[in-house]
Amino acid sequence: PASDPNLVERARAAKAALGERVFILGHHYQRDEVIEFADVTGDSFKLARDAAARPEAEYIVFCGVHFMAESADILTGDAQQVVLPDLAAGCSMADMATAEQVAECWDVLTDAGIADVTVPVSYMNSSADIKAFTGRHGGTICTSSNAKRALEWAFEQGEKVLFLPDQHLGRNTAVRDMGLSLEDCVVYNPHKPNGGLTAEQLRDAKMILWRGHCSVHGRFTLDSVNDVRERIPGVTVLVHPECRHEVVAAADMVGSTEYIIKALDAAEPGSTWAIGTELNLVRRLAKAHPDKEIVFLDRAVCFCSTMNRIDLPHLVWALESLVEGRVPNVITVDPETEKHAKAALDRMLALP
Ligand code: 13P
Ligand code: SF4
Repeated sequence: PASDPNLVERARAAKAALGERVFILGHHYQRDEVIEFADVTGDSFKLARDAAARPEAEYIVFCGVHFMAESADILTGDAQQVVLPDLAAGCSMADMATAEQVAECWDVLTDAGIADVTVPVSYMNSSADIKAFTGRHGGTICTSSNAKRALEWAFEQGEKVLFLPDQHLGRNTAVRDMGLSLEDCVVYNPHKPNGGLTAEQLRDAKMILWRGHCSVHGRFTLDSVNDVRERIPGVTVLVHPECRHEVVAAADMVGSTEYIIKALDAAEPGSTWAIGTELNLVRRLAKAHPDKEIVFLDRAVCFCSTMNRIDLPHLVWALESLVEGRVPNVITVDPETEKHAKAALDRMLALP
């Protein structure tokens, strides 16, 4: 679609017609054809912070996925409307924890006598309902760029952490950054009675990890790392912390999308890199650094299919609708959910 000069022209014209009334945010995993029109690009933390940066803009067009648009709605004033160009742009990880399942889990922790010493820490990649649960129970939100600080804070507030919904980010941060062992972590499976855990296992654990994962990062394996090291001797393997623990343990460097971008900016010309994150970003980085060899960690292609749903036709449709006075695909969070979710998001934004 990006090669269709008509669509590019139409996007430009609609954006120009809207001027300061629209603010377009683009996550790093978005297609190039969409990123081209973003006023600000970033990882989920940067976009959550930047969402409120233009209070004069009536519309925030969020080129990302549903939970990000919800967070933008929570963090911006009532006068601003958040538009998601395709409502089908969800996140399979966020869908792995529903409000009912998490309420049931809290009952299980209560029955085991540990709810009052457990602090929920929820990854940004979760629904507004889960963020509200987190806020109600005195917890914080985190992203992949501040998970360590969030866990440090949480362990100052209580003895245990319930980490939702990405078991990999939770485990990787606990073991790499907090000095906990794999044995300190248990996995709560919402599809099993009592999460598949005994009260004793829950009482012994320091980290209770929700059984969720990212379908994109979860595809990288130890074989992917070994294979690329064989193909490219001397390669530096840099992966996102949503990858499995064995992948992260075998990698040379680990960090959020924003960290990956900065690491490659600082890399020596002539250096070689294998990157374990979403493919739109890896391809864009390879293009931006022709003096470095940057390859995708796996041989198979691995886009995030829901991020990819936002394409130029959807963006053009959203912008032209706004020009015509219709506000399409508005994402709104109800006031009660918003109040508690905002408390959890504000705790994250206040982390040192
Ligand atoms: P970050 O933007 O925090 O790096 O997270 C990656 C991701 O999976 C977003 O959906
Ligand atoms: Fe969700 Fe993973 Fe896609 Fe991010 S990359 S939106 S966590 S499925």
